[in-house]
Amino acid sequence: MEIIRTVEQLKDRVGCEKSLGRSIGLVPTMGALHDGHISLVDRARRENDFVVVSVFVNPTQFNNAIDLATYPRTEEADCEKLEAVGVDIAFIPDVKEIYPEPDTRVFDLGEVANVMEGPMRPGHFNGVAQIVSKLFSMVQPTRAYFGEKDFQQIAVIKRMVEIENFDIDIVDCPIKRADDGLALSSRNVRLTPTQRELAPSIHSIMKESLSMMPDHTVAEVKQWVIDEINKVDEMKVEYYEIVHPLTMQPVETWSCGPVGCITVYCGDVRLIDNIKYIKQ
Ligand code: PAF
Repeated sequence: MEIIRTVEQLKDRVGCEKSLGRSIGLVPTMGALHDGHISLVDRARRENDFVVVSVFVNPTQFNNAIDLATYPRTEEADCEKLEAVGVDIAFIPDVKEIYPEPDTRVFDLGEVANVMEGPMRPGHFNGVAQIVSKLFSMVQPTRAYFGEKDFQQIAVIKRMVEIENFDIDIVDCPIKRADDGLALSSRNVRLTPTQRELAPSIHSIMKESLSMMPDHTVAEVKQWVIDEINKVDEMKVEYYEIVHPLTMQPVETWSCGPVGCITVYCGDVRLIDNIKYIKQ
């Protein structure tokens, strides 16, 4: 595996592979890699001739300075994991390399960005669109891989791809969970041992709510999930919305196969998760 830190070298190296007709898989990450990321890389490895993983904690998508400062950075361990799964290039630039000038672009992300994480984290999705569009322009991958834990983020990225006319296949990959059901996240390392024991209740309560459908209304199920999670020590639901899987808009009926998207503070750690309301 090659570690590349400059855009120029990245473009040269990937350009060379493309000129040989090879397909390129890109997995954008912010590092602190866990098995969720590795499942994306494994899939990219299976589906492409050449795999690039970017590791970059993108400052423009953080609207909270403490969150940016405390975001885990584990470059050495990340490189070992990427090497072990057969990645071709780990692209690990510094901030100046990606943003030699401030990025002032404002994307019209439309309705998919105007709910949930949109209003809760102003500027966050614009920052995601900035970095992902830069990575797409630099690598021009055949396919790019994103985890469904960030369900709304995928919708935002698809919208950005549409407005920027990128010819790239966006591949959604299922959430990876620990054995106890907690969705894998780089932020989980910040949970105390007690919080780590409590956090799987987010998934177990959402899962239990599947059995309330279709006899209970969407509004009843939504309130039940919020109340049950808020009863757990150290947990505070920021929002729980049951939304259309494509538009991200809250729904009132079950007919479209909606997705429940949640954000919960567990102590001061912000965890997100989601569940598909399809009879299982
Ligand atoms: O999901 C993430 O880790 C980030 O938002 C992404 C897509 C790598 C952009 O920085």
